[in-house]
Amino acid sequence: MRVGILTAGGDCPGLNAVIRASARRLLERGHEPVGILKGYRGLAYGELRPLDYRASSGILHLGGTILSTSSYDPFREPDGLDRIRAAQADARLDALIAIGGEHTMDITRRLHEELDLPAVGVPKTIDNDVVGTDFTFGFDTAVQVATDALDRLHTTAQSHDRIMIVEVMGRNVGWIAMHAGIAGGADGIVIPELTLTVEELAAGVARRHERGKNFSIIVVAEGAELAFASGESRTVRASETTDEYGYTQLGGIGSSLATELARATGYEARVTTLGHVQRGGTPTSTDRILATRYGIQAAEMVFAGETGRMTALHGREMTSVPLAEVRGVKQVDLRLLDVARTFFG
Ligand code: F6P
Repeated sequence: MRVGILTAGGDCPGLNAVIRASARRLLERGHEPVGILKGYRGLAYGELRPLDYRASSGILHLGGTILSTSSYDPFREPDGLDRIRAAQADARLDALIAIGGEHTMDITRRLHEELDLPAVGVPKTIDNDVVGTDFTFGFDTAVQVATDALDRLHTTAQSHDRIMIVEVMGRNVGWIAMHAGIAGGADGIVIPELTLTVEELAAGVARRHERGKNFSIIVVAEGAELAFASGESRTVRASETTDEYGYTQLGGIGSSLATELARATGYEARVTTLGHVQRGGTPTSTDRILATRYGIQAAEMVFAGETGRMTALHGREMTSVPLAEVRGVKQVDLRLLDVARTFFG
């Protein structure tokens, strides 16, 4: 079989580990892995490259993706489907492994259903918001980067009478904020799934001061709203422009929250926005292992003809779910908030 492999949407640590694992399992069984460049754009425009032993080795520890990525969506382009149909025949692909987030899984499902493209999805994203799997690869690395930042900010915060706000990524869910906040000992965690008002945060800061703690660290997810006790709430956006998938650019809530908390408490506030640092660089060992397991599983699913499905981690088991069930976004398990709250204020 000739099996295409592509990475689509935003990059994340561990993509190369999946490419390597799928390619290696395909090669060892006598099949031909083919790299498709720049996500679905590369399929539509015939940008392919061989993924032999040489091309797929030495990449396990590398961040980013050797295949490049894009947010090209054939269903949003006038000639997208015709191009994919023609490319499938030209490239003589027997199957496709598409590594991406929720939007890529949706494109992959539609191509499987509408064009009969035998495809398997692999869930990636630092946001951990893909429905149907417990964890996406990339998430652990982002949480580790954010946790390291919180540890560093603790020491400088302690030296001043300051509130430190740390804005983390996560799009419309608070997984990175919640995990990094618990791991890094945050004094407040603000996520999109649950409203925490400026007044509630200020009260927590005041309680800490009463106990002799002269600093506070607050983690805020980029997709959270700025909310007040009056019921007023504001959405903060870095920009209203959208990418090819139609996503708006998030970011900026950290600065707004710092201004409001300084006003409400009378203490100085500083903001650190971690941004794309969370997505770059080498994957953690946990992400390398998860990505490798996903890559092997995807190849096995191709062999077994289990297409139209996405690889999934359920507990400790590697399994799969129908792409048709991968809809919407997976929100934070709010039981974690109960754990985190023990340490607020
Ligand atoms: O989905 C991953 C992610 O890093 C989000 O956490 C973030 O909102 C978004 O992508 C940033 O996208 P871009 O790289 O297009 O700025």
